[in-house]
Amino acid sequence: MSQADSGRLEIDLAECEMPGLMKMRRIYGPSKPLKGARIAGCLHLTVQTAVLIETLQELGAEVQFCSCNVFSTQDHATAALAKKGTGVFGWKGETDEEYVWCLDQTVYFPNGKPLNMILDTGADLTKWIHDKHPDLISGIRGISEETTAGVINLGKLLKEGKLKVPAINVNDSVTKSKFENIYGTRESLVDGIKRATDIMLAGKVCVVAGYGDVGKGASLSLRGAGARVVVTEVDPINALQAAMGGFEVLTMEEAAVKGQIFVTSTGCPSIIRGEHMLSMRDNAIVCNTGHFDSEIDVKWLKDNAERFNIKPQVDRFKLSNGRHIILLAEGNLVNLACATGQSSFVMSCSFTNLVLAQIELWTKQKEYPVEIHRLPKKLDEEVAEAHLDHLGVKLSKLNEKQATYMGVSIDGPFKSDQYRY
Ligand SMILES: NC(=O)c1ccc[n+]([C@@H]2O[C@H](COP(=O)([O-])OP(=O)(O)OC[C@H]3O[C@@H](n4cnc5c(N)ncnc54)[C@H](O)[C@@H]3O)[C@@H](O)[C@H]2O)c1
Repeated sequence: MSQADSGRLEIDLAECEMPGLMKMRRIYGPSKPLKGARIAGCLHLTVQTAVLIETLQELGAEVQFCSCNVFSTQDHATAALAKKGTGVFGWKGETDEEYVWCLDQTVYFPNGKPLNMILDTGADLTKWIHDKHPDLISGIRGISEETTAGVINLGKLLKEGKLKVPAINVNDSVTKSKFENIYGTRESLVDGIKRATDIMLAGKVCVVAGYGDVGKGASLSLRGAGARVVVTEVDPINALQAAMGGFEVLTMEEAAVKGQIFVTSTGCPSIIRGEHMLSMRDNAIVCNTGHFDSEIDVKWLKDNAERFNIKPQVDRFKLSNGRHIILLAEGNLVNLACATGQSSFVMSCSFTNLVLAQIELWTKQKEYPVEIHRLPKKLDEEVAEAHLDHLGVKLSKLNEKQATYMGVSIDGPFKSDQYRY
């Protein structure tokens, strides 16, 4: 079977587990609210992203995508998309230079017209357009951004007065960050570590750096597998949460000597550095499931240790002290590089938010001035609702008296924007 044909079968299978996107097709497919939109996307090019791309197309948009990560592309998924005529630019193991080339291919569409919408991850495409194609900015109606790091980058641009296009921060939709980051990571992190190493987790001391949403999912899954989990944190609130969740909280200097498996999930650079790796036990496994590739000092390791490539995405380094470090995915996201990323169902929650954000920005231009917006709470609730049937969830219903007492409408929104879930 060709790569494209096997990709098509997997895309069809993923659709079965992406009820939110299928609902978007049923609701908006006939009216095509994205007609006229030329969406340039920068996202992990996976089977699930293929379902998103084909949903946007069914809603009327022209779509071109590049990969947001050099290791995460699933080549069979891009082959299937390309076979159907969709412009997708990215391949697993591309170089940094090739990454930039791919990014630039999304700017102009085959008919010669430029993008007029951005669907971004990490704000890479947003920055590229602002820096390299400023002449195109006035034609762009909006940006959706789906990562914590990307939202931080957009915030910096806005603060410096450099952001020129309205943006919707999809990351902070509850049905995105609380679901993908916690529940997605809870399954995909261990999947990545296991596929790469076949390591038995039970009984091991695992160190998770950062106890935010991703760190919580990571810590829970490792504990669920029987590991003894140590957390590192800089924020006293998260540190206290971790302690009260039953985890030991130490500094990385203290944890480095104890741990057997290390996972970074902070969004912050240089979490595991040379001095930490030198103090680790022999054959400590080190990986990242946080931001891009900057949380582990891979350069130090490459410069200071002898490298043995075990298999793609798994390297064993011999340190000057004779001990070894097993590095996964060269410090890139382990769940994407060593496994297949997040499960279809949780990605359906995230991507349904993205579809709604694209429709909002494209169809309600006047309601979104240049700012970083959030999706209205009602839409966040709709995303969740679109996934309930699939799990057989039955919702209770408020009566008028109860709703009045609670100060909400019978049909929601059920919480204020400040509610933290
Ligand atoms: N692998 C994936 O599939 C995946 C999925 C979603 C998000 N992410 C990424 O994971 C990262 C974390 O996301 P999040 O939603 O958990 O963010 P978050 O802000 O909720 O959590 C990060 C935590 O790390 C802590 N931290 C920051 N610097 C630290 C340091 N030097 N030492 C110890 N702790 C530190 C923060 O206090 C915070 O509690 C982001 O970069 C995000 O883009 C990855």
